[in-house]
Amino acid sequence: MRTHPFAPALLAAALLASSIHAAPQNRNLQVIDKNISKDELKKMMEGFAAQLGVKCQFCHVDEQYEKDDKKQKGDARKMIKLVMEMKSRKPEFFKTTVKETAIQCSMCHRGRPQPEAFVP
Ligand code: HEC
Ligand code: HEC
Repeated sequence: MRTHPFAPALLAAALLASSIHAAPQNRNLQVIDKNISKDELKKMMEGFAAQLGVKCQFCHVDEQYEKDDKKQKGDARKMIKLVMEMKSRKPEFFKTTVKETAIQCSMCHRGRPQPEAFVP
């Protein structure tokens, strides 16, 4: 049997691609898409931190991101669901002038962990 001369190179390329794109298996993602890439997850997390004006440790135990020890992580899960709901029902809740990208944590948090109540 003859193998295609390029076969080993193609296989190596395919393995490399799958190791780059495959999501780690032992994740504890209950709300965010489990297939999210490492880079996208990192971007999203940096976004949460910036939008709330906090460090990763506000929600996470040092370097043990899969753990659920902190109340804030549980709160954040509910808030992610809230934002997903607002996005998926955008036409119901918002005018077309509200851009999809504006619907995120910062819409309410504005750089603070606890949005200030404004009661006129
Ligand atoms: C406002 C809270 C909050 C902040 C701040 C935050 N995270 Fe997260 N993070 C979460 C939540 C909630 C989850 C789990 C999401 C889910 O269940 O789908 C998570 C999940 C993760 C995961 C996946 C862990 C696993 O299950 O394998 C990593 C990695 C992670 N965060 C890293 C970071 C890093 C790095 C920072 C700082 C740049 C950060 N996070 C900041 C709330 C936060
Ligand atoms: C519709 C407005 C709104 C949006 C959008 C929103 N939040 Fe909140 N969030 C609040 C309010 C109001 C509070 C304070 C009251 C409370 O704790 O229930 C709060 C509290 C929290 C807390 C608890 C803070 C603490 O000190 O313990 C976390 C964590 C949090 N939000 C994370 C997030 C994240 C992450 C997002 C984006 C995925 C987000 N929130 C989007 C309104 C919002």
